[in-house]
Amino acid sequence: MKKIIIAIDGYSSCGKSTMAKALARKIGYLYFDSGAMYRAVALYCMQQGFIVDGNIDVERLRAAMSEIKITFTADGVTGNSLTVLNGVVVENEIRSLEVSQQVSRVAALDFVRAALIDQQREMGKAKGIVMDGRDIGTTVFPEAELKIFVTASAEVRARRRYDELVARGTTPDYNDILANVVERDHLDLTREVSPLRQAEDAILLDNGEMTIEGQLEWLCEEYKKCVEE
Ligand code: DC
Repeated sequence: MKKIIIAIDGYSSCGKSTMAKALARKIGYLYFDSGAMYRAVALYCMQQGFIVDGNIDVERLRAAMSEIKITFTADGVTGNSLTVLNGVVVENEIRSLEVSQQVSRVAALDFVRAALIDQQREMGKAKGIVMDGRDIGTTVFPEAELKIFVTASAEVRARRRYDELVARGTTPDYNDILANVVERDHLDLTREVSPLRQAEDAILLDNGEMTIEGQLEWLCEEYKKCVEE
């Protein structure tokens, strides 16, 4: 069967990664979370003291960019993909609210995007991948054979992020999370470089009312249609 590239883009906290991971596992593809790569750069900035009073020291980050190596490894027990920053697994750290609050600013920098897009294209060279993000179908792989654009209301998405953080053992505030979701939507939609938008040939999926199983079933159907064409 032909191998394809599957691009899953959409708003933050839409459950893109849950469906992308499940699909990849089911069809034997590799899964890549491009948002995790932007999060890892934001974490790096925080660790290095590049963010002062909410402002990024852009020149220090630019100078350090070639030293930032982001890879993925599989969890030995669950098989889940884990993000590795310069040799250290940072999967939990990159999901914190602090990183979420900084990441859209980091992701708006053109030299950060250029560096990460190069790495992402490398990951797709052999095809047979599912990658999720904001600009995968528009900028990273405009030639992807299957493109999905996922959306749901801000409240549904904030509730999902809240439940995820609670499951990770933290005690978040729902209103802070909702404010962060709304702010990130705004930053993602209005940034100059690669703003969030639906590719013309992407299929729209509003998953606000759908179960995870329902989404996977829908996605598998779209995949089948695409490879059997
Ligand atoms: O999907 P996520 O919430 O983990 O993404 C984190 C941030 O990275 C989000 O604010 C938007 C940005 N991002 C991006 O600009 N381009 C991508 N391909 C993926 C994520």
